[in-house]
Amino acid sequence: MSGGVRVRVPASTANLGPGFDVLACALDLWLELEVQPAPTFSFTTDLPVPMDPTNIAVDAFGRLGDPARVAFTMRSQIPLSGGMGSSAAARVAGVLAALVMGGEEPKDALELALAIAAELEGHADNAAAAIYGGVTVELPDGPLKLAVPQRLGFVIVAPHEAVDTPAARAALPAAVPMADAAFNVGQATALAAGLASRDLDLIARGLGDRLHQPHRAPLYPRSMELIASARELGALGGTVSGAGPTVLLWCDRDAVRDVEREAGIWSAGWADTLAVDPSERGAQIERL
Ligand code: HSE
Repeated sequence: MSGGVRVRVPASTANLGPGFDVLACALDLWLELEVQPAPTFSFTTDLPVPMDPTNIAVDAFGRLGDPARVAFTMRSQIPLSGGMGSSAAARVAGVLAALVMGGEEPKDALELALAIAAELEGHADNAAAAIYGGVTVELPDGPLKLAVPQRLGFVIVAPHEAVDTPAARAALPAAVPMADAAFNVGQATALAAGLASRDLDLIARGLGDRLHQPHRAPLYPRSMELIASARELGALGGTVSGAGPTVLLWCDRDAVRDVEREAGIWSAGWADTLAVDPSERGAQIERL
């Protein structure tokens, strides 16, 4: 094992409405994992996460390296309430650190990390955005990266009460009606076209979903009410961020502060509201 490494990985918001398990966007909130060779295992953090080898970053590191003689230090700005890609960021960080400490060049590590992190996650959407940045489209032969329009900003509304991703996945049906699948194809096409042409009105027309959000609505009814009112708050629309319960409000950059204020009033007492930019940058690796 070589010297230490510091990895920075962004938060991510997955699904983006119609793109269940396929679309995601990196966000400008960061998790940092520093990993140094040491005589024994240690894990240092201020976060309310396990500090033993069951920590998901350590577990991910352990798929490729030996965490028994490693000192981990983790810092993160990513809310832990669910839906902001905190688990994907931690797993990507652990995998990247193990690959680079095992001798891979950082550029190669970024290419190799997706398959491993996606297997640990059970889906590739968050991991792809966390690694590559921007909006990512998960395709069978590898992710496609789309640039994010400069005029696009986000407000996230993160409920205090967390929802487990496994519980949210268990709420999904095994099959969906053809009409719902067709609806989502139309919405995802409009969204991708809107992103590619930087057309915020077209983006607003492509945020609908019938594949996952309606099935999960009983897990977070207040999040769904907020999405239904997103335009009244001045946003282009709203989507459940990943498996939820966090809501992503899509905004014209000029409207972000107003939407943040209105959403804060709407969700007072049960959620935290935060303006956040999309991130064109994905994971970064620095040898120490
Ligand atoms: N696409 C995943 C889901 C994201 O909706 O279950 C989980 O963060």
